[in-house]
Amino acid sequence: MAGAVKVKVCKEAKEVAEQAAQMIAKAIKANPRMVLGLATGSTPEGTYAELAKMHKAKEVSFAGITTFNLDEYWGLDGDHDQSYRYFMNTRLFEKVDVRPWNTNVLNGAATNPMLECQAFETKILASGGVDLWLLGIGGNGHIAFNEPGSSVDSRTRLVSLTQSTIDANSDGRFFKKASDVPRCALSTGIGTIREARSIVLLATGEKKAQAVADAVNGAFSPDCPASLLQDHPACTFVVDEAAASLLKK
Ligand code: PGA
Repeated sequence: MAGAVKVKVCKEAKEVAEQAAQMIAKAIKANPRMVLGLATGSTPEGTYAELAKMHKAKEVSFAGITTFNLDEYWGLDGDHDQSYRYFMNTRLFEKVDVRPWNTNVLNGAATNPMLECQAFETKILASGGVDLWLLGIGGNGHIAFNEPGSSVDSRTRLVSLTQSTIDANSDGRFFKKASDVPRCALSTGIGTIREARSIVLLATGEKKAQAVADAVNGAFSPDCPASLLQDHPACTFVVDEAAASLLKK
């Protein structure tokens, strides 16, 4: 399938963060009640810092928006300092004026994961659907915790993490050792993500170069979950030069 993904190449990670923050702020200004999808991981941290700065400078208000996050580790409750709820609270939510009750992160400590995932999907629908979903990409091409092999129409569910994801998240940035990383997560599906009206995927650094090239230039295939965004009508990859280095010219 021909790639319809737009790619913006920035010189370095700082510029990726600035571009992404500008895109989000613009979307909020156009619709102050928008539904914003969010991601965790190292890559969006700079974007969240930029948005917090813009909010402090009174350039953007999050007071009317609703947010949904991509995923959460299964077995961690929101107070755990490696949970994605904690990540979002400390990196963004506590630094801006978003209403806490309008922020939605899957509950990794829910007693029934299936009900938790279904309720999350229902809430996205009830909110009118996601206007813009910010994504990262794994070195193995995953989006959210949809590991290679995930189907194009997958929905929010309990998933197992691959060893490469466990290793990537225990390199000292987050968990200190692989045995500390939960083996499972609750993750929005690729079908869930594809329903967003627009998608902005961020990638920085050479470790992402192969995944970015496979996603943009490779086959439309579950082997590279991010390639399943190729036919999305409004998907932009914002990447630095290192992450863009294997893209076809
Ligand atoms: P990272 O993770 O931003 O920490 O590299 C991205 C991802 O795994 O989706």
